[in-house]
Amino acid sequence: MATYINGKQYLQLTILKMTPQLHTLLTIVRDKQTKRNDFIFYADRINRLLIEEGLNFLPTREKIIETRTGEKYIGSEFVGKICAVPIIRAGLSMENSIREVAKKIRIGHILIQRNEETAEPIFFKDWLPGDIAKRYVFVLDPMLATGGSAIATIKRLKERGVEENKIIFIAMVSAPEGIKAVLDAFPNIRIITAEVDQGLNERAYIVPGLGDFGDIYFGTA
Ligand code: PRP
Ligand code: URA
Repeated sequence: MATYINGKQYLQLTILKMTPQLHTLLTIVRDKQTKRNDFIFYADRINRLLIEEGLNFLPTREKIIETRTGEKYIGSEFVGKICAVPIIRAGLSMENSIREVAKKIRIGHILIQRNEETAEPIFFKDWLPGDIAKRYVFVLDPMLATGGSAIATIKRLKERGVEENKIIFIAMVSAPEGIKAVLDAFPNIRIITAEVDQGLNERAYIVPGLGDFGDIYFGTA
């Protein structure tokens, strides 16, 4: 389904269907009164919904099997190998959600931190599987704000030979500015997000947003 940001159509953007359940979960994680253990529990539930949606973008092929009644069933199976790359630190919160649904997944990591004053991303280090260019790559980061951290990560993946159309960026909450910056730079990647917010404040935080995700999830606020 085509999705519009400020009047421009982004075919590569998927926003989760806003069900009563998802709206309730997002309300809990956004609420400043929510205690940390509830924040973790409900953020994990949203992450699971996002990851499940991401799996819908992996290629499949027909697989005909025989059921226990002896009859044939025209089914399907996934083709291709996958890898997840959480952006440290907040992206680590999504790692378990993908491990729960993808048994043989490889996990790379990339360490990028925003400069607190300028919001510019600073790349420190990455650890990526040697065969990453042959895999579909789920980049995991709950917050897509200016898009700087996402762009730095995707650039690094492309340097390692990953094709844009094999990159699926998963973000819980996104700012329109970040979506636009990332998809204008890399029009063939896919972004999957639970909600697109109004914009960024003067500190480049998403508003209404939820605050500093990493600090809340890991208890360092
Ligand atoms: C946060 C978040 C993203 C980034 C998003 O990380 O997890 O990585 O900011 O902002 P951007 O789109 O403007 O780049 P941060 O660097 O604050 O570190 P943290 O994960 O330790 O909280
Ligand atoms: N990082 C966060 O954790 N929250 C924001 O709103 C922006 C960047």
